[in-house]
Amino acid sequence: MSPQPQAAVGAPLSRVDGRLKVTGQAKYAADHEPDGVVHAVVVDSSAALGRITGIDTGAAEAQPGVLKVIHHRNAPRLPYGPNPGSLNLPGERLRVFQDGLVRFHGQPVAVVVAGTLEAAQHAASLVEIEYDSERPTTDLTDAPAAGEPRTYARGDAEAALQSSPVRLEMTYRPARNHHNAMELHATVAQWDGDRLTLWDKTQWVQSPRDELAANFGIPAENIRVISPFVGGAFGNAARAWPHITIAALAARETGRPVKLVLTRRQLYFGVGYRPAYEYKVRLGSDRRGRLTAMTHDLRAETSSYETFAERGVVSPGQMLYTTPNVSQTHRTVPLDVNTPTPMRGPGYSTAAFPIESAMDELAHELGIDPIELRRRNEPDNDQSSGRPFSTRRLRECYTVGAREFGWGRRNPRPRSTRDGDWLIGTGMATALYDTLRAPGRASVRLDADGTALIESSTSDMGPGTYTSMTQVAADALGLAVRNVTFRLGDTNMPTAPLHGGSLTMASVGSTVQDGCDKLRQQAIQLAVGDEDSPLYGIDADDIVVRGGRLHVSNNPARGETYRQLLTRNDRTHLEADGSWTPGQSRSSMYAYGAVFAEVAVDARLGLVRVRRMLGVFDAGRIISPKLADSQAIGAMTGGIGMALLEHTVTDHRDGRIVNANLADYLVPVNADVPELKAIYVDGRDDEADPLGVKGLGEVVLVGVAPAIANAVFHATGRRVRDLPITAEALI
Ligand code: MOS
Repeated sequence: MSPQPQAAVGAPLSRVDGRLKVTGQAKYAADHEPDGVVHAVVVDSSAALGRITGIDTGAAEAQPGVLKVIHHRNAPRLPYGPNPGSLNLPGERLRVFQDGLVRFHGQPVAVVVAGTLEAAQHAASLVEIEYDSERPTTDLTDAPAAGEPRTYARGDAEAALQSSPVRLEMTYRPARNHHNAMELHATVAQWDGDRLTLWDKTQWVQSPRDELAANFGIPAENIRVISPFVGGAFGNAARAWPHITIAALAARETGRPVKLVLTRRQLYFGVGYRPAYEYKVRLGSDRRGRLTAMTHDLRAETSSYETFAERGVVSPGQMLYTTPNVSQTHRTVPLDVNTPTPMRGPGYSTAAFPIESAMDELAHELGIDPIELRRRNEPDNDQSSGRPFSTRRLRECYTVGAREFGWGRRNPRPRSTRDGDWLIGTGMATALYDTLRAPGRASVRLDADGTALIESSTSDMGPGTYTSMTQVAADALGLAVRNVTFRLGDTNMPTAPLHGGSLTMASVGSTVQDGCDKLRQQAIQLAVGDEDSPLYGIDADDIVVRGGRLHVSNNPARGETYRQLLTRNDRTHLEADGSWTPGQSRSSMYAYGAVFAEVAVDARLGLVRVRRMLGVFDAGRIISPKLADSQAIGAMTGGIGMALLEHTVTDHRDGRIVNANLADYLVPVNADVPELKAIYVDGRDDEADPLGVKGLGEVVLVGVAPAIANAVFHATGRRVRDLPITAEALI
């Protein structure tokens, strides 16, 4: 088959949905206003552990406009059946208003439904609840783990450590972080008999559909979820959280469409977060920096009712470096808190901080350049599985990064460089993220006017799914980008996997390409079998399509347009179904990167300012370079937050999150974000998927926090092992 010309893929397109977004025409979940919509406001628990002993809703119900106050004493019992294909976790999910128990501060204990948002808010403030409460356990540092640890071992790490000439032991503590996407979590629920329509902020329309089907005991086919635009999510709109069930319940109980928007404060306990960890690393090496052993002992917070254990937090310790002896224990510590969830670069970004800090500590101990140390431990294959790497261009990331960043000019001695009152330091870290892939489906339709519509029920939480899928489809169909429309975010569309884990480009992209390839082949077959076509009798393999015109690949003059072909054949349109299922892989597939940071630390005040940052990434083929840069720059900004600012603080006396707002939970603002640059090393990964991509959105966050932490050490000579690194830790 003649390869299709690639014009759109690889071009630095602006977002095809950009105009809709900046002109306010893009409708987010809370923008939907079905006729007769009323408003729901959640009443959350002020106790963190115990049970409800009294509820007085009289004052709330007496307010004008209030339709109903629902709580565990008057709510119907819901089936809450199993939901096996979901993102639910081991344990028992929170069942809203099904009992009077309180498991964490902020747990939903009632919902007020009223004609206006203001009436619902005011009435919610009037609901009186009495608790019989106990002191909660919320502090990871002194709470016991539950159950047996998850373990991994190869070789004999203890013996190898004993006989290693160099041994280091450190404990790192990355803090709890909240995703804090710009768009608040919102659901609009409307019942029509036993059918339910949901406009929801979600990364996966299938997720709320299946959860509500299970919770209400109705067929999934009765539920339609619509979510065309998502204003950021970072992992937190993947699971169907309790408020979605509350919205549907409130709509059913009042017989009205209900809009429920969590407040910024409520998202700190209404949805998930990146859990805090204690991560103890011991490593042994020879005098030349070759690792002999590593042990990783992790304690991670989870809720009392569900066990959240992310695999990504242990895999880097098993395969990132040549390490003959590895031992890991991963313990979860149930606390009286709500359940954690994946947050951008889940697991990997947490693990990269201790591992990449420890490598920096070892480099310093041995007087070896940090990049050279990593090169000396670069494995030939994946030591956790013995499999070859599909592609691993990490050495190239180091080389390109060192050159572009000017690493060679670095004086390795800590606290050796000053700029007035500022101590200047540079640091680097390695990044990696699993190349995840999942099956999907898409529909493709080409109309006789030469325009195409592709649909798949994926999502676009910000990375630019609309744009990248349009690019893939345009090239596979041989159409200009302006003649291609891609739609997503509706359970009525062909099923797509979760929009997360950086799997969308590989999975949905390959699906879209498959459907478009099939449609193009249909058109070509139609032409070569049509006596009136200039392409009649030509070998189908010799035909390509470009600009909506089919022609012989080495003779562009001989051909005709889709429009001519379809019109002459009395065809209003052609249709095809795309699908892709990843094959069994023989290889270890990861995206990689090397992140470089320069910081300035005020020698007297301990303030840290990131001065510049560079990321060099091996993410396979880059479909959409402009959006890739948006991903990289956004992730580096998020990494600055993780390194220096973000910390969800709990008052352990009462389990209350004390900074549940964007004034006290610090995120980077423009003044915190310097020049950020990303470079992508060239090359596709043909084993990963037909597009040759490895996923980008997660790996770009992973090494940022340790690169900054290592730069802070280089600037100051102070090693800070707790995130975020605050001024207090440096003075
Ligand atoms: Mo990503 S944390 O899987 O949305």
